[in-house]
Parts: sequence; C-alpha cells; structure tokens
Amino acid sequence: MADNIRYIKVADKQEAASVVLERIREELAGGLKVLGLATGSTMEPIYAAWASSDLDFSEVTSFNLDEYVGLQADNPNSYAWFMDHHLFSKKPFKETNIPDGTSDNLEEECKEYEAKLRDAGIDVQFLGVGENGHIAFNEPGTPFTSITHVTKLAESTLGVNSQYFEDRSAIPETALTMGISSILSAKKIILIAFGEKKRFALEQLTKGKETTEYPITALLGHRDVTVITDLDGIQP
Ligand code: GLP
Repeated sequence: MADNIRYIKVADKQEAASVVLERIREELAGGLKVLGLATGSTMEPIYAAWASSDLDFSEVTSFNLDEYVGLQADNPNSYAWFMDHHLFSKKPFKETNIPDGTSDNLEEECKEYEAKLRDAGIDVQFLGVGENGHIAFNEPGTPFTSITHVTKLAESTLGVNSQYFEDRSAIPETALTMGISSILSAKKIILIAFGEKKRFALEQLTKGKETTEYPITALLGHRDVTVITDLDGIQP
C-alpha cells in the first residue's frame, strides 16, 4: 500500500465537508495562496460549508479544472455558473480562473491557461472523479504527460451528464481541461468521492497499478494525496 495516499473514511457528506473545512483552515494558516478547484455535485456540500464559514479567501487565487466548450458563463450548466453560484458570489477570492470554453481560439486559451497555472503553482488541488475513473475531463486513454487541452468527452460521460441537460443534443461533447500532468503539478491533492457509483473508480486506485485506462491511477505517482470518501472498505 503506497503511503503517498491517505484515505479518510467519513460517515456522510456533512462529515466530509467538516473534514475539508478544517483542512483548508490549516492550509490557509500555513500560507496557502493558490487553490485548484473542482465542480460537480460532490463539491456542493464542500463549497456550502466554505460559504457559510469564517474562512477568508481574499488572498487566494483559484484555478478550476475544466469547462465545457460553447457554454456561456450565464448558462447554468457551465462550470463558470456553478462556481459563481456555489462559491464565488458568496466568498471573495483575490482572483479566480476558469478555462474559457467560449474563446474563439481554444488552443491558445489552453496554452495560456497552462502557463498561468504553472507560473502560479497550485498549493492544493481538489478533484472529484468520474464513474469511469476520469479526473477533470481527462478521459480514459489520456496520457499522464498531458497539459491543458481540448478534449472530447467519453460516451459514458455524456450519458452521466444527460441528467443535467433537458435536450441530449444540447450536451457539450467537448471541453477544455487541465491535463493530468497539470493536475500532478499541484503540491497536494484532495480527491473526494461519494456513493456506490464511485466505487469502481476508487478501486482502480487502490489496486495500485498506474494505467491510462483509468486516469485516477495517475495519482499513484503523486507524493501527497488525500482521498475522502463515504464508501466502506476502500482503504487498502
Ligand atoms: C465531471 C467533471 C469532473 C468531476 C465529475 C464528477 O465530469 N469534469 O471534474 O469530478 O464530473 O462529478 P460529480 O461530482 O457530479 O459526480
């Protein structure tokens, strides 16, 4: 069992939110300046706890993992909207960054985003995980050396996402995402996963074998990862 990955079993989402809140409080006291943020339902209770806390993010710069191509920031399915709604409108940050999926030069946008995040240096990166083991929008098969790029979403991800879109043809099929190497450049990583739907993905991690088939296994090559989950029997 690799000791670079620490597992924290929580009873439920509320306990996870408290554990994360205290961890972020310590990190802020320790000088955290750059935070990598994630979207998705997993993060909602986490951000709700931050929003109603006394935590001060006014000296913190954030970088989000990913964004759909083609959705404007006022579209409730965009990650820009998600972040504003759940966190940024409630807690002021020094600066927030989300890849711009409406840019007319997506390649250039990715290049600039990567340069900016490398220059800033992410202290703590939050991650959720897809049911197929993707991290951010790095789908199975993405090289671990990848940097911020334009990606095509996996069929299975489109299926999962269909619950959020009334009309299947409105589901974006492409996204901008930090690459796996961009994610691994963070000093510390905190991955959160709730519910049985995430068991398969977490089991790929606990098997301990790096494979591009399951992007989550790239975390085996990072030196400081915390996994927070409500699933029983995950910790090896
Ligand atoms: C999307 C995001 C991921 C996120 C995943 C899980 O695919 N790109 O960054 O981890 O959803 O979402 P949820 O937390 O809703 O299960």
